[in-house]
Amino acid sequence: MTKKLLTKDSAVELLHEKMKNQNLRRHCYAVGKVLAQFYDHFSSPAGLTKEQWEIAGILHDADWEITKDNPARHTIELLEWLEEYEVEPELLEVFRSHNTKTTKLRLPQTQLEWTLECCDELTGFIVAVALVMPEKKLEQVTVESILKKFRQKEFARQVDREQISQCEEKLGINLNDFVSITLNAMKNNSGLLGL
Ligand SMILES: [Fe+2]
Ligand SMILES: [Fe+2]
Repeated sequence: MTKKLLTKDSAVELLHEKMKNQNLRRHCYAVGKVLAQFYDHFSSPAGLTKEQWEIAGILHDADWEITKDNPARHTIELLEWLEEYEVEPELLEVFRSHNTKTTKLRLPQTQLEWTLECCDELTGFIVAVALVMPEKKLEQVTVESILKKFRQKEFARQVDREQISQCEEKLGINLNDFVSITLNAMKNNSGLLGL
């Protein structure tokens, strides 16, 4: 069987086929856009392309709707679907490093894997902050408002702050800058994110 090419378009197509909930899709778009922004921040690092960084975000949770009642299958399903595609081995490793606390397939190691690990929770947190703004828009969200809520343990308490704060140790980016880059990427795509 000839394998399909994994491009941004075919990744979005796969996402849409497997995930029907609009908010879940938007989380995937958000992480994709944020990773593309970090690719630029890291000055086009060697290895995967910017498109592949974005694909890592678009697909990291593509199987989430299907596996949400069976988290041990999250990423395993995705890896099975990707067997039909021509995928860079390095990109497959990124997916293997996601949900690793459960699957134990691979600990995050590369810059892209750690960026995904840290921004995954943060994008959801920023959405939560936007939703408590008077207009419920990203436009009104600032780095300060995010950091203030970040320190309030009872706000969006399911968000793992420690996972986000690892950006300092694992990526050498202070939390303030990490939040700022993530927020900017989301603001630049507010239409896509419905915020
Ligand atoms: Fe996930
Ligand atoms: Fe996610």
